[in-house]
Amino acid sequence: MERELALEFVRVTEAAALAAGRLMGRGDKEAADQAAVDAMRSVFDTVHINGTVVIGEGEMDEAPMLYIGEKVGTGSEPEVDVAVDPLEGTNLVAKGLPNALSVVAVAPRGCLLHAPDIYMDKIAVGPRAKGCIDLDAPVEENLRKVASALDKNVEDVTAIILDRPRHERIIAEIRRAGARVKLISDGDVSAAIATAIEGSGVDILFGIGGAPEGVIAAVALKCLGGELQGRLKPDGEEELERVYGMGLDDPDKLLLLDDLVKSEDIFFAATGITDGDMLRGVRYEGETAQTHSLVMRGLTRTIRNINATHFLERKPHFVARGTEQNAG
Ligand code: FBP
Repeated sequence: MERELALEFVRVTEAAALAAGRLMGRGDKEAADQAAVDAMRSVFDTVHINGTVVIGEGEMDEAPMLYIGEKVGTGSEPEVDVAVDPLEGTNLVAKGLPNALSVVAVAPRGCLLHAPDIYMDKIAVGPRAKGCIDLDAPVEENLRKVASALDKNVEDVTAIILDRPRHERIIAEIRRAGARVKLISDGDVSAAIATAIEGSGVDILFGIGGAPEGVIAAVALKCLGGELQGRLKPDGEEELERVYGMGLDDPDKLLLLDDLVKSEDIFFAATGITDGDMLRGVRYEGETAQTHSLVMRGLTRTIRNINATHFLERKPHFVARGTEQNAG
């Protein structure tokens, strides 16, 4: 893929962030998500790709836009798989909490795992601890190996994990091993990325979150030289059927980074919606708004931070103003 596409993908996440950010703290996660989806969809139409959504807002019959299988882009080369999460952390935006993002990940056609919208068990680390993790190994062993790779004591390692009752056992194991625990209410994409960002204060991600979020985070970690492993957690026959329906023949397979993302010719773009550890949230100031984005390219591992000022009256089609959505 041409390197120039990086900026195009940032325009897509910026649009979604600008639209959803307006609705921060209003307690309406559906409205914020819808605003992000509408904005992202309209900008995608201008990007010179022949894209197919492989991770999106749902199946065709349940999601009117950015559904799995939907074509995005102008239809010109290259042919790509597109994974979108227009609003990662719907509750975070609804409550004005940190680390809500708008995210897009892109790979050559056939190179992203087509994960159904079910849970995935995950473990992730940054580049220095790459090769030291194993989802099937005991928590204590993973922590010990990561500590050694980072040249730290286990007591100085910080594990990040979604604060859910399903994680009680693993949280107890992390604490028993002596590591520090950072519990988050939502947003395991930004948590996984944080493991690969120097100075984030986070060393390893554990726990079960969304499978689509797992694939998206895997693209980011591949760009950053880190590692993510996952295993799908289908709950019941219906979810199992969806796993088979996505072309996966072994639902219990340990998915390594190269199973989740089969190419290095990948892009990952994210724009902050609320303030977070990596990205500032959207700031609205009269006629303008500021966004902060990150865009990474797998082939070269270039990481760009992009601060942008947007003149809102020039972008009426995707900037929600106050409670009015998609004016013009
Ligand atoms: P949404 O943006 O769809 O609300 O997802 C937020 C999130 O926290 C993800 O980051 C995470 O993977 C998933 O939800 C966890 O699911 P659950 O809230 O069911 O534990």
